[in-house]
Amino acid sequence: MKVLVIGSGGREHTLAWKIKQSPHLTKLYCAPGNAGTVGLAENVNIGGSDLDGLVRFAHSEGIDLTVVGPEAPLVDGIVDRFKEEGLRIVGPSAKAAQLEGSKVFTKDFMKARGIPSAEYQVYSDAEDAVSDLKAGRFKFPTVVKADGLAAGKGVFICQDLEEALDAVNAVMTARQFGSSGDRIVIEEFLVGEETSFMVFTDGTNLIPMVPSQDHKAAYDGDTGPNTGGMGAYSVDFLLSQELRDQIMDQIMRPTVEGMKEMGYPFEGVLYAGLMLTKEGPKVLEFNVRFGDPETQVILPRLKSDLLANFDAMADGDLSGHQVEWHSDAAVCIVIASEGYPGSYPKGHEISGMAMAEEDPGTIVFHAGTDLKEGKTVTSGGRVLGVTSLAPNLQAAIMRAYEAVNKIHFDGMYYRKDIAAKGLRKLTKD
Ligand code: AMP
Ligand code: GLY
Repeated sequence: MKVLVIGSGGREHTLAWKIKQSPHLTKLYCAPGNAGTVGLAENVNIGGSDLDGLVRFAHSEGIDLTVVGPEAPLVDGIVDRFKEEGLRIVGPSAKAAQLEGSKVFTKDFMKARGIPSAEYQVYSDAEDAVSDLKAGRFKFPTVVKADGLAAGKGVFICQDLEEALDAVNAVMTARQFGSSGDRIVIEEFLVGEETSFMVFTDGTNLIPMVPSQDHKAAYDGDTGPNTGGMGAYSVDFLLSQELRDQIMDQIMRPTVEGMKEMGYPFEGVLYAGLMLTKEGPKVLEFNVRFGDPETQVILPRLKSDLLANFDAMADGDLSGHQVEWHSDAAVCIVIASEGYPGSYPKGHEISGMAMAEEDPGTIVFHAGTDLKEGKTVTSGGRVLGVTSLAPNLQAAIMRAYEAVNKIHFDGMYYRKDIAAKGLRKLTKD
């Protein structure tokens, strides 16, 4: 099978790395890919927003299956477009991708279907939101969310009225995220532990993946600004079998069934960002694709052939398919450029990656990297994701940090406490 992976981050390097292991693969392409995918695939210089270019390329190269990493092309309708062209692709249609593309759609959908989530109110007029906030309708902290995609920056946890008014103003009046701020959701602040839970689905059948946890804040102790994710870990004890069954029965299956009943069948990877509250798991958000950096800890634990799985999904027939997982714990530490998630320099040479990978339990996934005159240089905010596997979480953490210590580029920073929460959970339970 000739396969095309769309995207250029750590998630896409991981997808390429795993697909490369499939006996069904004949040739792999990444559009546009990064310096890490160069050794695995042929990088093609076409961006994810260039749907015409991608369709032309898939036709001309005779691509048998396309896999989409990021959300933007999905929300823009890449799957609909490829299918119209008779091209095989894995992922949700634009209608189904509203689960990530519109908070309002998703909140209304969950309410109608009885899927547990925070209480909320939708506003399409800033004045109404301001007057409800001033009238004391919401308890603090409260959460203000832009309706549409905002590159992970459209969510504001507001401690008091002033912060909430500022958030409404930034999103709806100053239009920090353009038309994503046409509407907002104001919702109840949920308390608990956050967990990421993903499933493969063909629109009818679901296969759960192992659980993982992201670290969104930039600095240790969950302080500093929110980022795309500074690290992740995956270990079986994160969720008991009972909780996994509850998440499947109360959240994942009703969502896939509900979307099908609405006429928007969801095919692809469905990701639920969950808060494990005292009343049970509640949905913070859905993503319509693999998480980044969650993928960097989930796919190294996948024993089965990912490409065979994608192939079955593209045929709409996951029934009878099963996936197997390694019992090892996995930890991924993201190394970022100084300044991220704000502006950051580019073009710094990276050294020590080969040494870091001498340990057979460690893989260095590239995110914002590029090749310049034969050298690997930084080209993004999140530069690398260093993943280590080990029989237990503590050993995986040690391995990952040992590997990180061998890597260097000017201005690099990373969190020192990735997966520390997991260790605390282990001693608490
Ligand atoms: P989202 O993009 O909706 O996942 O929000 C980004 C982050 O904001 C989440 O990962 C949570 O840490 C936090 N968050 C979002 N909604 C809530 C909520 N209702 N209560 C508490 N934290 C939230
Ligand atoms: N790591 C969170 C996300 O992929 O959206």
